[in-house]
Amino acid sequence: MNRSPLTIRLCGPRGFCAGVDRAIQIVVLALKKYGAPVYVRHEIVHNRFVVEGLEALGAVFVEELDEIPQEHHAQPVIFSAHGVAKSVPADAEARNLFYLDATCPLVSKVHKQAMRHERLGRHVVLIGHKGHPEVIGTMGQLPPGAVTLVETVADVDAFDPADPAALGFVTQTTLSVDDTADVIERLNQRFPEITAPAAESICYATTNRQDAVKQAAPGCDLFVVVGAPNSSNSKRLVEVALKAGAKKSILLQRAHEIDWDAIGDIRLLGLSAGASAPEVVVAEIIDAFKARFDATIELAETVQETENFLVNRELRDVELTAA
Ligand code: F3S
Repeated sequence: MNRSPLTIRLCGPRGFCAGVDRAIQIVVLALKKYGAPVYVRHEIVHNRFVVEGLEALGAVFVEELDEIPQEHHAQPVIFSAHGVAKSVPADAEARNLFYLDATCPLVSKVHKQAMRHERLGRHVVLIGHKGHPEVIGTMGQLPPGAVTLVETVADVDAFDPADPAALGFVTQTTLSVDDTADVIERLNQRFPEITAPAAESICYATTNRQDAVKQAAPGCDLFVVVGAPNSSNSKRLVEVALKAGAKKSILLQRAHEIDWDAIGDIRLLGLSAGASAPEVVVAEIIDAFKARFDATIELAETVQETENFLVNRELRDVELTAA
């Protein structure tokens, strides 16, 4: 068979960020130290492949703490990388549960920024997506009514604060840098006295993955982002690829989802992966294209990441002895 030539432009950085890596390590190390089952509240990261791999090791995923049977209350329960409302650890303590918090340190930083605004008498404006666990967790750091969520410029226009001079904003860590810029600009126009967080809230991994996609997307016939449909940062990468000039962009969780008829005859494929997508799935998707095309890989690397977050104190001894 004569296969058509295809260049696969592979973005770097892509895939796992330091926060996701740490959250997965926490579950694995807790299983080593305390034995199965280890409970995890909510998907530890938004990726079925990762969740199923951890389930096979003995992790049990629950949505709420009351799903943990009484006889397992001495086993640890882990909170996901997205962060949780303050009521969740309080509830765990009330139930005498032993919990380990896998909230990404960069999400915890946003929690602190929101609390600081409130302490200084500011009403908090959170730029984020309604219903996302990170947004629920950040809003839950403060009493009801202390935070207003805005998703779009129109939401900013509709916002009518009690004191426009006493406002502070923070953002969800995994948004598109460009979209947030529009919302922040409108906030500054309408409320010139609004205070920005002390440091950028969109995390390094989101920014780096988006920058790499922006550089790689122009001219691509198709841009594939490996990631789950409920992964906020992966969905943003699809949007960034389209905005940057890819003719088409799709989100894929596994290679078997590829609709070859819809893909047709392409010459240049862009490829990246969201922060919760494992490299093994990227490799699987490359192999699937290699099986159909005469493919060559071209690396599009914008920066090398060196970030690494320490796991919880309770697990550091396990890490040292881990293979
Ligand atoms: Fe943390 Fe950013 Fe990853 S907030 S979990 S490092 S995408």
